[in-house]
Amino acid sequence: MFIPPRETVRELHGEEVVRRRVEELAAQISADYAGRELLVVGILKGSWVFVADLVRRLTVPVIIDFMTVSSYGTSTRTSGVVKIVTDLKCPLERRDVLLVEDILDSGLTMRYLLDNLERRGPASLKVCVLMDKPARRKVQIRPDYVGFEVPDKFVVGYGADFAERFRNLPFIGYIEEDDRGGENGTNQG
Ligand code: IMP
Ligand code: MG
Repeated sequence: MFIPPRETVRELHGEEVVRRRVEELAAQISADYAGRELLVVGILKGSWVFVADLVRRLTVPVIIDFMTVSSYGTSTRTSGVVKIVTDLKCPLERRDVLLVEDILDSGLTMRYLLDNLERRGPASLKVCVLMDKPARRKVQIRPDYVGFEVPDKFVVGYGADFAERFRNLPFIGYIEEDDRGGENGTNQG
């Protein structure tokens, strides 16, 4: 049964703006890692569109791996309890690792992941996020690369979802506020 989404999405950053920003990030990352091989760790599901576009613009050698995590809470708020649903295939030991996420919000998911990955002995570990929402940070985390700083709104598109919808939007948008609130359940990536 198909139930059409009731939410309205407003555009925040258009497709062309996103494309140019991803190009800039890739150029910066390529310059910073010149002469090295990068291991990109994408966090699923939210990062897949961003990872796909970003890695195709990198000029350094790159290996790509993914990790699926889910955080328990409502569909729009994280609890900080993170579960690794599918772990990485690649060992991180002595590798230059770049963790790629769709959005840094409270920072709880990222804090958990950084602690977890750091214990695997990478040569270096940096963070690249498509979007940073600093207004809602609960733990101090400074991402090394940020695509866009976004306002305190629920953003969707370019991989980011609202209850699994809108990941395929080619632009970054936000959900128009209304009074319905979120339903309880598992929020996967
Ligand atoms: P955090 O732990 O609060 O930093 O957020 C963890 C995850 O929640 C992010 O990686 C996203 O998958 C999701 N998330 C947080 N804010 C948003 C949003 O505005 N739109 C879509 N997903 C979000
Ligand atoms: Mg995510």
